[in-house]
Amino acid sequence: MSVRIAPSILSADFARLADEIAMCVAGGADLIHIDVMDGCFVPNLTYGAKVIETVRRLTTLPLDVHLMVVQPEKYFDSFAGAGASILTVHQEAAPHLHRQLHHVRALGCRAGVALNPATPVDSLQDVASDLDLLLVMTVNPGFAGQSFIRSALNKIRRARALLDAAGNPAMLQVDGGIARDTIGACWAAGADSFVAGNAIFSAPDPRAEIGVLRSLCSATV
Ligand code: DX5
Ligand code: ZN
Repeated sequence: MSVRIAPSILSADFARLADEIAMCVAGGADLIHIDVMDGCFVPNLTYGAKVIETVRRLTTLPLDVHLMVVQPEKYFDSFAGAGASILTVHQEAAPHLHRQLHHVRALGCRAGVALNPATPVDSLQDVASDLDLLLVMTVNPGFAGQSFIRSALNKIRRARALLDAAGNPAMLQVDGGIARDTIGACWAAGADSFVAGNAIFSAPDPRAEIGVLRSLCSATV
């Protein structure tokens, strides 16, 4: 399994967005994580297609778009058109998950599903072959800089078992409170894709921090 580090631009300085993206690229980031929030599914508002399109012009890295919104299907076409590479919907906001995952794939994007801390892995049993990314939230979504929920480690193990049982090589991503003190345990539990906002953008040397986080995975067996 290869480690993928996905800086979340939620913690970036938007007055210097081009420099922040260039820093992520120079630091060896694998994906750029874009948190879309609607003030309804989560108690915070962020950005939409305009920012995806802007970041698309700044890098060739895959754009990993995390949709913390109700009725996510309303945005699939415009976000795919803006250059999203991965569209991840929340299980809690997607009653027609199977249809939505296939819609995302039909648009040429990879299809992800996110689980809030209270949502069981088993709820994805019947779509285990239909997803390209499974995101286990390690905080309650809505804000950067929250504390990692340690009970998520067992959930990561269950998510890894679900994907393995389905023979699905999908990415297993974690998001929230990922930093030097938490990333190794997530990797050991079976995660291979790591979103980090605060840990990267608030580091004294953000560019180097991407490599530090990556090395903490290979150091943990
Ligand atoms: C939280 C977002 C995260 C957030 C992570 O709701 O989905 O992607 O930016 O921020 P940190 O790494 O600071 O917890
Ligand atoms: Zn996110």
